[in-house]
Amino acid sequence: MAIELKRIVQLRPMAPADLPAAHALSRAQQWPHRAEEWSAFLDLGEGLVAERDGVIVGTTMWWCYGEDYASLGMVIVAREAQGLGIGRQLMEAAIERLSGRTILLNATDEGLRLYKALGFEPFGTILQHQGAPFDIPVAELIPNERVAPMKAGELADIVRIDGEATGLQRGRIIDHLFDQAQGVVLNREGDQAGYALFRRFGRGYAIGPTIAPDIGGAKALISHWLGSNTGMFCRLDVPEDSGLSAWLDEMGLPCVGRVTRMHRGELPAHGKALRAYSLVNQALG
Ligand SMILES: CC(C)(COP(=O)(O)OP(=O)(O)OC[C@H]1O[C@@H](n2cnc3c(N)ncnc32)[C@H](O)[C@@H]1OP(=O)(O)O)[C@@H](O)C(=O)NCCC(=O)NCCS
Repeated sequence: MAIELKRIVQLRPMAPADLPAAHALSRAQQWPHRAEEWSAFLDLGEGLVAERDGVIVGTTMWWCYGEDYASLGMVIVAREAQGLGIGRQLMEAAIERLSGRTILLNATDEGLRLYKALGFEPFGTILQHQGAPFDIPVAELIPNERVAPMKAGELADIVRIDGEATGLQRGRIIDHLFDQAQGVVLNREGDQAGYALFRRFGRGYAIGPTIAPDIGGAKALISHWLGSNTGMFCRLDVPEDSGLSAWLDEMGLPCVGRVTRMHRGELPAHGKALRAYSLVNQALG
């Protein structure tokens, strides 16, 4: 099977010229990514495409964080080419290139079996919430807490806070997002205690990442963005154990899907004082 497959599918590094074909694959899956998101994915990371008779039938991508970690995503095989081992071949090639690093991913139900077979283990669930809510309660701030616009001069502190919460060096991604996103910072007692970005994504906007010391801080950051963009289509990908799901449901952002967080290698160690309440997106984590 493997030898026969090599003849019909060739893997090669993804190049900018492949992006329209890659985008067509994600659209066929009804995934909401725009050309801009694909282009940012390739600016920030690397990928492989599987070609059959000169036609791209599969993709996978990854993004490295520091020396030890990587996030992997955009694993897609065209429907007509599924079940032939192409997904496995793409994943094996990516794993080889990421040798020595822990790989993190968010698995759809369709991908679970493949990832488990390749040594990935589940460690939680991400819930996809989205909607266009109108009625957003004003955040209840605690004394000496405020939500303020993020300034360019705060970027280094934001990257540090983000690293504390995730255990990942995501400076490059945050820099890139900062160019296109609006950000707010949660200040407590005059110190930066969290942040949340708001930016175009897919059908509307995404709120993420959201980093906060507790659920009250996360709600203050998220309600800032929802309250100042009422009626706009917004999406958040939140960990199931964040405690945010029922609150988002009530506000008119129902849960429309779930994916399984998986890791291959040791999970990043992070501090207990801060955590991620929403992802950048499912691919980047
Ligand atoms: C997940 C996906 C990439 C797998 O690609 P693929 O080329 O079909 O997978 P492969 O043929 O390499 O098969 C991989 C494993 O899944 C199993 N598998 C394949 N199709 C399957 C199906 N329809 N149902 C159950 N298992 C299936 C195979 O048995 C194989 O296991 P094995 O290697 O132990 O025999 C593909 O189904 C896909 O693109 N799905 C839609 C997008 C998606 O959800 N991507 C995952 C994002 S995290």
